[in-house]
Amino acid sequence: MKKWMQILVLITSITSASTLLASGGFGEGGDGVSTMPAVTNAKWKTECGSCHMVYHPSLLPERSWKKVMTGLDKHFGENASLDAATHDEITQFLAANSADKQNNRRSSRINQSIPANETPIRISETRYFTSKHDEVSPNTFKRKSVGSASNCVACHKGAEKADFSESQVKIPR
Ligand code: HEC
Ligand code: HEC
Repeated sequence: MKKWMQILVLITSITSASTLLASGGFGEGGDGVSTMPAVTNAKWKTECGSCHMVYHPSLLPERSWKKVMTGLDKHFGENASLDAATHDEITQFLAANSADKQNNRRSSRINQSIPANETPIRISETRYFTSKHDEVSPNTFKRKSVGSASNCVACHKGAEKADFSESQVKIPR
Protein backbone atom coordinates (compact mmCIF):
# COMPACT_ATOMS: atom_id res chain seq x y z
CA MET A 1 0.00 0.00 0.00
CA LYS A 2 1.22 3.49 -0.78
CA LYS A 3 1.87 5.78 2.17
CA TRP A 4 -1.03 8.15 1.37
CA MET A 5 -3.40 5.21 1.06
CA GLN A 6 -2.38 3.91 4.46
CA ILE A 7 -3.10 7.31 5.93
CA LEU A 8 -6.50 7.41 4.23
CA VAL A 9 -7.40 3.97 5.63
CA LEU A 10 -6.30 5.09 9.08
CA ILE A 11 -8.40 8.26 8.96
CA THR A 12 -11.45 6.30 7.78
CA SER A 13 -11.20 3.80 10.61
CA ILE A 14 -10.71 6.50 13.23
CA THR A 15 -13.76 8.34 11.93
CA SER A 16 -16.01 5.28 12.05
CA ALA A 17 -14.78 4.32 15.52
CA SER A 18 -15.58 7.75 16.90
CA THR A 19 -19.00 7.73 15.20
CA LEU A 20 -19.70 4.46 16.98
CA LEU A 21 -18.60 5.90 20.31
CA ALA A 22 -20.61 9.08 19.84
CA SER A 23 -23.77 7.15 19.00
CA GLY A 24 -23.50 5.42 22.34
CA GLY A 25 -26.25 2.86 22.30
CA PHE A 26 -27.04 3.19 25.97
CA GLY A 27 -30.42 4.82 25.52
CA GLU A 28 -31.62 8.43 25.54
CA GLY A 29 -30.53 8.56 21.88
CA GLY A 30 -30.59 11.74 19.86
CA ASP A 31 -27.77 14.23 19.76
CA GLY A 32 -24.88 14.64 22.10
CA VAL A 33 -23.16 12.13 24.31
CA SER A 34 -25.65 9.58 25.59
CA THR A 35 -23.27 7.03 27.07
CA MET A 36 -22.53 6.82 30.76
CA PRO A 37 -18.78 6.78 31.29
CA ALA A 38 -17.23 3.43 32.21
CA VAL A 39 -15.86 4.34 35.62
CA THR A 40 -14.96 2.04 38.44
CA ASN A 41 -13.23 1.90 41.79
CA ALA A 42 -12.32 -1.31 43.62
CA LYS A 43 -13.31 -0.14 47.12
CA TRP A 44 -16.62 1.25 45.86
CA LYS A 45 -17.41 -2.10 44.19
CA THR A 46 -16.61 -4.14 47.30
CA GLU A 47 -18.05 -1.86 49.99
CA CYS A 48 -21.06 -0.40 48.22
CA GLY A 49 -21.82 -3.64 46.42
CA SER A 50 -21.97 -5.86 49.48
CA CYS A 51 -25.67 -5.33 50.32
CA HIS A 52 -27.06 -4.28 46.95
CA MET A 53 -25.97 -3.58 43.38
CA VAL A 54 -23.56 -0.68 42.91
CA TYR A 55 -25.31 2.52 41.83
CA HIS A 56 -23.37 4.27 39.11
CA PRO A 57 -22.05 7.68 40.29
CA SER A 58 -23.53 9.44 37.26
CA LEU A 59 -27.07 8.73 38.55
CA LEU A 60 -27.00 11.34 41.35
CA PRO A 61 -25.50 14.83 41.80
CA GLU A 62 -22.47 15.39 44.01
CA ARG A 63 -24.51 16.87 46.89
CA SER A 64 -26.58 13.67 47.02
CA TRP A 65 -23.51 11.44 47.21
CA LYS A 66 -22.04 13.62 49.97
CA LYS A 67 -25.28 13.23 51.91
CA VAL A 68 -25.30 9.44 51.38
CA MET A 69 -21.69 9.24 52.54
CA THR A 70 -22.17 11.37 55.67
CA GLY A 71 -25.14 9.25 56.75
CA LEU A 72 -23.64 5.78 56.38
CA ASP A 73 -24.09 4.92 60.07
CA LYS A 74 -27.85 5.22 59.53
CA HIS A 75 -28.11 4.11 55.92
CA PHE A 76 -31.70 3.04 55.15
CA GLY A 77 -31.89 1.25 58.49
CA GLU A 78 -28.43 -0.32 58.15
CA ASN A 79 -25.03 0.57 59.54
CA ALA A 80 -22.80 0.87 56.48
CA SER A 81 -19.97 2.80 58.19
CA LEU A 82 -16.46 2.69 56.74
CA ASP A 83 -12.97 3.48 58.00
CA ALA A 84 -11.88 7.05 57.26
CA ALA A 85 -9.53 6.23 54.36
CA THR A 86 -12.05 4.04 52.53
CA HIS A 87 -14.80 6.58 53.22
CA ASP A 88 -12.74 9.40 51.70
CA GLU A 89 -11.67 7.43 48.65
CA ILE A 90 -15.23 6.37 47.82
CA THR A 91 -16.61 9.89 48.45
CA GLN A 92 -14.03 11.33 46.07
CA PHE A 93 -14.79 8.71 43.43
CA LEU A 94 -18.55 9.37 43.63
CA ALA A 95 -18.11 13.16 43.60
CA ALA A 96 -15.69 13.15 40.66
CA ASN A 97 -18.06 11.07 38.53
CA SER A 98 -21.38 12.42 39.77
CA ALA A 99 -24.27 13.50 37.53
CA ASP A 100 -23.19 17.15 37.63
CA LYS A 101 -19.68 16.28 36.43
CA GLN A 102 -20.99 14.48 33.36
CA ASN A 103 -22.04 15.71 29.96
CA ASN A 104 -24.21 12.77 28.96
CA ARG A 105 -27.92 13.32 28.40
CA ARG A 106 -29.13 10.99 31.11
CA SER A 107 -27.09 12.65 33.84
CA SER A 108 -28.20 16.12 32.86
CA ARG A 109 -31.84 15.01 32.74
CA ILE A 110 -31.50 13.52 36.22
CA ASN A 111 -30.00 16.78 37.46
CA GLN A 112 -32.72 18.86 35.82
CA SER A 113 -35.38 16.71 37.50
CA ILE A 114 -34.08 17.55 40.99
CA PRO A 115 -35.13 20.94 42.41
CA ALA A 116 -32.10 23.01 43.46
CA ASN A 117 -33.19 23.05 47.11
CA GLU A 118 -33.50 19.25 47.33
CA THR A 119 -30.85 16.60 47.97
CA PRO A 120 -32.39 13.19 47.36
CA ILE A 121 -30.45 10.15 48.50
CA ARG A 122 -32.48 7.80 46.36
CA ILE A 123 -32.27 7.67 42.58
CA SER A 124 -35.63 5.89 42.74
CA GLU A 125 -37.25 9.01 44.23
CA THR A 126 -36.08 11.51 41.63
CA ARG A 127 -38.65 12.89 39.20
CA TYR A 128 -36.53 11.51 36.39
CA PHE A 129 -36.98 8.00 37.78
CA THR A 130 -40.73 8.31 38.31
CA SER A 131 -41.29 9.72 34.84
CA LYS A 132 -39.35 6.83 33.26
CA HIS A 133 -41.28 4.23 35.26
CA ASP A 134 -44.83 5.56 35.12
CA GLU A 135 -45.89 2.40 33.29
CA VAL A 136 -44.45 0.07 35.91
CA SER A 137 -47.04 -0.57 38.65
CA PRO A 138 -46.13 -0.42 42.35
CA ASN A 139 -47.03 -4.11 42.60
CA THR A 140 -44.46 -5.00 39.96
CA PHE A 141 -41.73 -3.35 42.04
CA LYS A 142 -42.93 -5.37 45.04
CA ARG A 143 -42.65 -8.74 43.29
CA LYS A 144 -40.44 -11.25 45.10
CA SER A 145 -38.18 -11.42 42.06
CA VAL A 146 -37.67 -7.63 42.18
CA GLY A 147 -37.86 -6.60 45.85
CA SER A 148 -38.08 -2.84 45.40
CA ALA A 149 -37.59 -0.07 42.88
CA SER A 150 -34.01 0.20 44.20
CA ASN A 151 -33.12 -3.15 42.72
CA CYS A 152 -32.47 -1.83 39.21
CA VAL A 153 -30.56 -4.97 38.14
CA ALA A 154 -33.69 -7.11 38.50
CA CYS A 155 -35.03 -5.47 35.33
CA HIS A 156 -31.98 -3.77 33.77
CA LYS A 157 -29.23 -6.32 33.51
CA GLY A 158 -26.70 -3.65 32.52
CA ALA A 159 -27.66 -1.38 35.47
CA GLU A 160 -24.31 -1.51 37.28
CA LYS A 161 -22.66 -0.21 34.11
CA ALA A 162 -25.46 2.35 33.80
CA ASP A 163 -26.80 0.66 30.68
CA PHE A 164 -30.54 1.28 30.83
CA SER A 165 -31.22 0.89 27.10
CA GLU A 166 -34.70 -0.33 26.27
CA SER A 167 -33.42 -3.45 24.54
CA GLN A 168 -31.93 -4.58 27.86
CA VAL A 169 -35.12 -4.20 29.95
CA LYS A 170 -36.81 -7.40 31.11
CA ILE A 171 -39.23 -7.46 34.05
CA PRO A 172 -38.95 -10.81 35.87
CA ARG A 173 -42.13 -12.74 36.78
C1 HEC B 1 -25.12 -2.88 55.22
C2 HEC B 1 -25.76 -2.88 53.93
C3 HEC B 1 -25.50 -1.71 52.97
C4 HEC B 1 -24.28 -1.24 52.53
C5 HEC B 1 -22.88 -1.72 52.92
C6 HEC B 1 -24.56 -0.16 51.62
N1 HEC B 1 -25.92 0.00 51.45
FE1 HEC B 1 -26.84 1.33 50.25
N2 HEC B 1 -28.66 0.61 50.81
C7 HEC B 1 -28.88 -0.38 51.77
C8 HEC B 1 -30.31 -0.59 51.92
C9 HEC B 1 -30.96 -1.59 52.85
C10 HEC B 1 -30.94 0.29 51.01
C11 HEC B 1 -32.44 0.44 50.75
C12 HEC B 1 -32.85 -0.54 49.67
C13 HEC B 1 -34.33 -0.57 49.38
O1 HEC B 1 -35.06 0.36 49.72
O2 HEC B 1 -34.77 -1.57 48.76
C14 HEC B 1 -29.87 1.03 50.34
C15 HEC B 1 -30.09 1.99 49.35
C16 HEC B 1 -29.11 2.75 48.75
C17 HEC B 1 -29.37 3.82 47.79
C18 HEC B 1 -30.73 4.26 47.26
C19 HEC B 1 -31.15 3.42 46.06
C20 HEC B 1 -32.41 3.96 45.40
O3 HEC B 1 -32.30 4.77 44.47
O4 HEC B 1 -33.51 3.61 45.85
C21 HEC B 1 -28.15 4.35 47.46
C22 HEC B 1 -27.91 5.49 46.50
C23 HEC B 1 -27.14 3.62 48.21
N3 HEC B 1 -27.76 2.65 48.97
C24 HEC B 1 -25.79 3.88 48.14
C25 HEC B 1 -24.82 3.16 48.85
C26 HEC B 1 -23.41 3.47 48.79
C27 HEC B 1 -22.78 4.59 48.00
C28 HEC B 1 -22.77 2.54 49.58
C29 HEC B 1 -21.30 2.43 49.88
C30 HEC B 1 -20.68 3.55 50.53
C31 HEC B 1 -23.81 1.67 50.15
N4 HEC B 1 -25.03 2.09 49.67
C32 HEC B 1 -23.59 0.61 50.99
C33 HEC B 1 -27.90 -1.09 52.42
C34 HEC B 1 -26.52 -0.93 52.28
C1 HEC C 1 -39.58 -3.73 37.87
C2 HEC C 1 -38.55 -3.50 36.88
C3 HEC C 1 -37.69 -2.27 36.95
C4 HEC C 1 -36.87 -1.85 37.98
C5 HEC C 1 -36.67 -2.50 39.33
C6 HEC C 1 -36.22 -0.63 37.52
N1 HEC C 1 -36.61 -0.33 36.25
FE1 HEC C 1 -35.93 1.16 35.08
N2 HEC C 1 -37.28 0.69 33.63
C7 HEC C 1 -38.14 -0.39 33.67
C8 HEC C 1 -39.03 -0.35 32.51
C9 HEC C 1 -40.12 -1.35 32.16
C10 HEC C 1 -38.65 0.81 31.78
C11 HEC C 1 -39.26 1.34 30.49
C12 HEC C 1 -38.51 0.79 29.31
C13 HEC C 1 -39.12 1.24 28.01
O1 HEC C 1 -39.53 2.40 27.93
O2 HEC C 1 -39.14 0.43 27.10
C14 HEC C 1 -37.54 1.42 32.51
C15 HEC C 1 -36.86 2.56 32.06
C16 HEC C 1 -35.73 3.08 32.71
C17 HEC C 1 -34.93 4.17 32.19
C18 HEC C 1 -35.16 4.91 30.89
C19 HEC C 1 -34.46 4.23 29.75
C20 HEC C 1 -34.50 5.11 28.53
O3 HEC C 1 -33.43 5.40 27.98
O4 HEC C 1 -35.59 5.55 28.15
C21 HEC C 1 -33.93 4.39 33.11
C22 HEC C 1 -32.82 5.42 33.00
C23 HEC C 1 -34.12 3.46 34.18
N3 HEC C 1 -35.22 2.68 33.90
C24 HEC C 1 -33.32 3.42 35.31
C25 HEC C 1 -33.59 2.61 36.42
C26 HEC C 1 -32.85 2.70 37.67
C27 HEC C 1 -31.70 3.66 37.94
C28 HEC C 1 -33.40 1.77 38.51
C29 HEC C 1 -33.04 1.49 39.94
C30 HEC C 1 -32.91 2.62 40.87
C31 HEC C 1 -34.49 1.11 37.76
N4 HEC C 1 -34.57 1.66 36.52
C32 HEC C 1 -35.29 0.10 38.26
C33 HEC C 1 -38.18 -1.36 34.64
C34 HEC C 1 -37.53 -1.30 35.87
